[in-house]
Amino acid sequence: MKKIIITGALGQIGTELVVKCRQLYGTENVLATDINEPEADSEVAQGPFQVLDVTDKDKMFKTVEEFGADTIMHMAALLSAVAEKRPMFAWELNMGGLMNALEAAREYNLQFFTPSSIGAFGSSTPKVNTPQVTIQRPSTMYGVNKVAGELLCQYYFEKFGVDTRSVRFPGLISYVKEPGGGTTDYAVEIYFEAVRKGEYKSFIDKGTYMDMMFMDDAIDAIIKLMEADGGKLIHRNAYNLSGMSIEPEMVKNAIQEYYPDFKLSYDVDPDRQSIADTWPDNIDVSCARAEWGFDPQYDLDKMTKTMLEAIENKEGVK
Ligand code: SER
Repeated sequence: MKKIIITGALGQIGTELVVKCRQLYGTENVLATDINEPEADSEVAQGPFQVLDVTDKDKMFKTVEEFGADTIMHMAALLSAVAEKRPMFAWELNMGGLMNALEAAREYNLQFFTPSSIGAFGSSTPKVNTPQVTIQRPSTMYGVNKVAGELLCQYYFEKFGVDTRSVRFPGLISYVKEPGGGTTDYAVEIYFEAVRKGEYKSFIDKGTYMDMMFMDDAIDAIIKLMEADGGKLIHRNAYNLSGMSIEPEMVKNAIQEYYPDFKLSYDVDPDRQSIADTWPDNIDVSCARAEWGFDPQYDLDKMTKTMLEAIENKEGVK
């Protein structure tokens, strides 16, 4: 990777991926793109940036060509809960954008990354220690998009030789950018509200286990996978990844180590709960570990400490 174009650069992952890639490969070698303009003082704005709607194929091709990219990291997509509210738009954006990015990769010989998700699983998938290769019959538009995306990436690799690489991300937890419209968002909001208010009302019910991962581990995983020897990748589209399997009471207990008075209550959102109920409790990440050395560093306690300290700094509390 020398000249990288990143779509969805102002999204939850893109915001931090841009910064990391610029540190590693040089600011001028990473073109951030998004449908929105960045804030002038944001980190993303401190290097090359271009407005790009990923459904605009001509503009995407022109942008790739002018920048002289050799890699595309396609991050622009709607998350699960909002995709469920706007399924047709989700199809247009998630699938239309992906096809344009894959076509750009084919036309300009780019290495390619896009994330899949635990949303690619459904209620008929084994819920515990979910295997790398298993039943994938999701019941959400987001899940349908992710399964189709995995298959398309595999197709472009086999049919056209495009170097497509992908992972199934769990819920990603970060203090830099709050997510928008995901089922796993409670696990981010809970930390912000713990610092801001000392209490949180969860829209996901107690006892609902889902896989999660701290953002630093997610970004490191992307870089590691993209740098890995392609010859060693057996399951490239897409690798199961997780840092921990948690449910809200576990997060509460971890927060109470630092905020003993923290209170967690529940106001379950039936829409998001019904999505969560179809996702695995915990997935098996052994293929990612064996094939390219996936090695997450954050467990729940380390992540909790890091999240609380960073949010306190950000909010100017304590
Ligand atoms: N965090 C995502 C979501 O909840 C999972 O891919 O939609």
